[in-house]
Amino acid sequence: MSDATVPAEAVARAAELRRLLQHHAHRYYVLDAPEIPDAEYDRLFQALQAIEAAHPGLRTADSPTQRVIGQVLAGFAPVRHAVPMLSIRTETDTEASGAEAFDARVRRELALPDDAAPLDYAAELKFDGLAINLRYERGVLVQAATRGDGETGEDVTQNIRTIARVPLRLQGSEAPVIEVRGEVYMRRDDFERLNEQQREKGEKTYVNPRNTAAGAVRQLDPAITAQRPLSFFAYGLGEVQGWDQPATHSATLDALAAFGLPVCADRRVVQGAAGLVAFHREMGARRDALPFDIDGVVYKVNDIELQRRLGFVTREPRWAVAHKYPAQEQVTRLNAIEIQVGRTGKLTPVAKLEPVFVGGTTVSNATLHNLFELRRKGVRVGDTVIVRRAGDVIPEVVGRVPSLRPAYVPNFRMPRQCPVCGSPVAREKGGIDHRCSGGLYCGAQRKQALLHFAGRRAMDIEGLGDKLVDQLVDSGLIRTLPELYTLGVAKLAALDRMGGKSAQNLVDGLVKSRHTTLARFLYALGIRHVGEATAKDLARHFGGIDRIMDASLDQLLEVNDVGPVVAQSIRAFFEQPHHREIVEQLRAAGIQWPEHEGTQADTAALPLAGKTLVLTGTLPTLSREDANALIEAAGGKVAGSVSKKTHWVVAGDEAGSKLDKARDLGVPILDEAGLRALLAG
Ligand code: IVH
Repeated sequence: MSDATVPAEAVARAAELRRLLQHHAHRYYVLDAPEIPDAEYDRLFQALQAIEAAHPGLRTADSPTQRVIGQVLAGFAPVRHAVPMLSIRTETDTEASGAEAFDARVRRELALPDDAAPLDYAAELKFDGLAINLRYERGVLVQAATRGDGETGEDVTQNIRTIARVPLRLQGSEAPVIEVRGEVYMRRDDFERLNEQQREKGEKTYVNPRNTAAGAVRQLDPAITAQRPLSFFAYGLGEVQGWDQPATHSATLDALAAFGLPVCADRRVVQGAAGLVAFHREMGARRDALPFDIDGVVYKVNDIELQRRLGFVTREPRWAVAHKYPAQEQVTRLNAIEIQVGRTGKLTPVAKLEPVFVGGTTVSNATLHNLFELRRKGVRVGDTVIVRRAGDVIPEVVGRVPSLRPAYVPNFRMPRQCPVCGSPVAREKGGIDHRCSGGLYCGAQRKQALLHFAGRRAMDIEGLGDKLVDQLVDSGLIRTLPELYTLGVAKLAALDRMGGKSAQNLVDGLVKSRHTTLARFLYALGIRHVGEATAKDLARHFGGIDRIMDASLDQLLEVNDVGPVVAQSIRAFFEQPHHREIVEQLRAAGIQWPEHEGTQADTAALPLAGKTLVLTGTLPTLSREDANALIEAAGGKVAGSVSKKTHWVVAGDEAGSKLDKARDLGVPILDEAGLRALLAG
């Protein structure tokens, strides 16, 4: 077909697609920073392939469809692969028919008669990471290289050596050359942990495990790679000299595993198309539960001799195919941003999306984590955003497509009042999260607050566990904490699945819990930053709940170990009238404790009264618990960190940074004998 017959739109569209694909390929392969999901790239690629198929005159030598992309980065030495690193043909038909088409093709190529027995296939997972060639000479890892363009890759030996699971020496093989091929990837839990750390530091989060793994492997500084939790699976061979490769692919992987290489256990030899279909289906069902991302499964003709007979078409073997699953990232429109209040009061911005099929389900809500991440990603209502859903992790918005921004939309703002209960929303100084300060008053936090209140170390209400709290709240029987004490056996027995006995148990538990201590009661209120130890300090210092409710910031700061954050949190809690009301109602419901229990006056005579000690390292005879107990029995307090308010630091073997801090601040340091002398008065 001559150019004259090609419609002008096709010419323009092909040029546009080539430009877009080149741009995105560079972001993906060279910068490890793609702007669009893989599925979107594949769509563009297929659109160009379709135009070129219809108008072959448009097929230029530099078209992305005509070569395997990937460039050698300046900074890594190029490595010429002894055996080219091929890619696999991808079957994008994610249904059973995709597997059947592969089997039919292989049988045709091998000219098998229709009644020939089903072929054996090695079925395995398609790991979503970065392909690596490991070169072992005489059993020793001498070089690791990326795939690059398939002919020439990059020398990343230093970086790969930081991956603990990659053996530096093969067990039981001194063969002159064995090249092992496989995938470097990052487990989902490692990825989530890494991002959680980034979030805590208020730093940029990573988009997905694949890009993070690829970025880490191509880090110029191996020390940075070493901090990234990378993993590896072997799935094949490159050059081999002086080793008789087993006759099948599955036996080859068994041999690699015996050499000490990590080989994924989720692989199987299956028979014929039916076996492939069953494997695809089974792994599809288990995909979310796997500890790492896969984007499909791979089928390989198991018999190596048959593989040789089948050979290659251009850069792809005829004996293997990748059978995909639905993509785990997609683009869609962000319709609105809503706020969700969690069980702990944390406010999370949630993206309301134009429904989109991601990772096997339709997603219309995705988390944006917090205000800072939302701002960093720069997403606004109306944007085209990238949504990721992988495994059990809740779907999240990981970015946006910058080129598709509608007309001006104002920046998102956090509400000043909790959308559930109207209490003030606050963010701690230097903190990342916004929180509702409503605590036990807030409907969103009701179940959590009740469970905490009833807990063994709080009010210790026997018979009030998870399930019952769900029932009580969901049935509307309880809306506020004090209502708990108005529950009668009759009301309770009416609840589903609750026979008369457990109803009576709970009523008994409630009666018993009425007699408590001020410290337990204070802890049970669930004031942020007021743990058991702080509650005890407060009870001891003030002796009564009214004095605590009315205490000023300065008065609170006088308490041992109470710093500005804790003091502020207590103030903010009791400044809210509904919290005081709850305290009043609970007292009216009969909750009581001995007055002036354990105030400073009671313990003043003890040898360590009013003193704060910090323990660090291992003491010769006393365990941590014993030392704690002895100090508390002597009227002292054990704090977790050293400050100017610390009276002594007790240091044992392998004492850590607390000892340094004590020296810096000039806090006296004791050994175990010194502590015993103090205890003896
Ligand atoms: S075999 C000649 N097996 O998929 C066959 N590849 O285009 C060579 N991949 O980036 C590859 N899991 O790194 C093979 N179980 C598996 C795989 C796998 C992931 C990657 C490979 C390459 C791409 C193939």
